Amino acid sequence: MIEIKKSPTSKIDKTNFDNLVFGQVFTDHMMECDYKNGEWQKPVIKPYGPLSLDPSARVFHYGQAVFEGMKAYKDKDDKIWLFRPEENFNRINRSSERLAIPEFPKEYFFNALVELLKLEKDWIKKGFGNSLYLRPFVIATEPGVSASAAKEYKFMIICSPAQAYYSGEVRVKFSEKYSRAADGGVGYAKAAGNYGAQFYPTNLVKEEGFQQIIWTDANSHEYLEEAGTMNIFFRIGDKLITAPTNDRILDGVTRKSVIALAKENNIDIEIRRVSVQEVIEAAENNELMEIFGSGTATVINPVAGFGHKDKKFELPKLENSYASFFKDKLMKIQYNEAEDKFGWRY
Ligand code: COI
Repeated sequence: MIEIKKSPTSKIDKTNFDNLVFGQVFTDHMMECDYKNGEWQKPVIKPYGPLSLDPSARVFHYGQAVFEGMKAYKDKDDKIWLFRPEENFNRINRSSERLAIPEFPKEYFFNALVELLKLEKDWIKKGFGNSLYLRPFVIATEPGVSASAAKEYKFMIICSPAQAYYSGEVRVKFSEKYSRAADGGVGYAKAAGNYGAQFYPTNLVKEEGFQQIIWTDANSHEYLEEAGTMNIFFRIGDKLITAPTNDRILDGVTRKSVIALAKENNIDIEIRRVSVQEVIEAAENNELMEIFGSGTATVINPVAGFGHKDKKFELPKLENSYASFFKDKLMKIQYNEAEDKFGWRY
């Protein structure tokens, strides 16, 4: 079904797996599948390397591009697992639909993942925290700068051995001015431009000592929605709150897994709008126990402190945090060390 052209050499021996910076090293192979003449052509796995594209390709001019983030894990018996890959498959097609990109066939996606992981299995190291980050993406390759949907695309999967996404503590600033997305826009899609548009405001808050922004709604800037690379949860007392998904917020796979685990473990979870004022009041009354982010790349990332306007708040360092509870639960499922009650492992 899939053509495989093996790389004659490997970079694996030159890779330092003890000191990986997220998304810097890529494995020996990649999957490439072209769309032309109205259909997806036969997928190919081939040696990782540069692409040759016409400078007028639509992706460069109109940002017609979507992507996904997934991880493969190795268990103690060397078996390799994916976590809820159907969710990523469905989401990349939802994102594609919004960007007028043709739907990718399911059998191509899963066949490519399986064959790539067979080839790259030695790149996946055992142990909690080690994984192979998989980056499926689609770009519009058709030459021509007329502003309309392309008729030619490339669907690719590249793989990068990964450890932690952030190397230190994460502090976030609540956005007062900039927004990630608006109603009717592309916020729910994993469109490349959603992330690119965040770099400038994120750079501004980095100068103030924050690593990320928590985006507030574009209309009032009163409600907290999502962070740059993750969905976001607030623990006030023993209650956990996260914003509902909508046009503006990414339907995160880790987010929905945390919600399912919270329900399973009788943790009081509320999926509703959460206001800046509510969180600041809770912090001032010492009721704000935790903020944490969830995402494939970051897994569960505790937030050490946050800022709003000129005020800065530090969060308590808890022994039994919800963040570590969910991280442990998720990882045990991902690494095949716990029963998979929800059928999430693949
Ligand atoms: C992921 O968590 O996989 C993402 O896609 C976020 C990315 C911007 C690092």
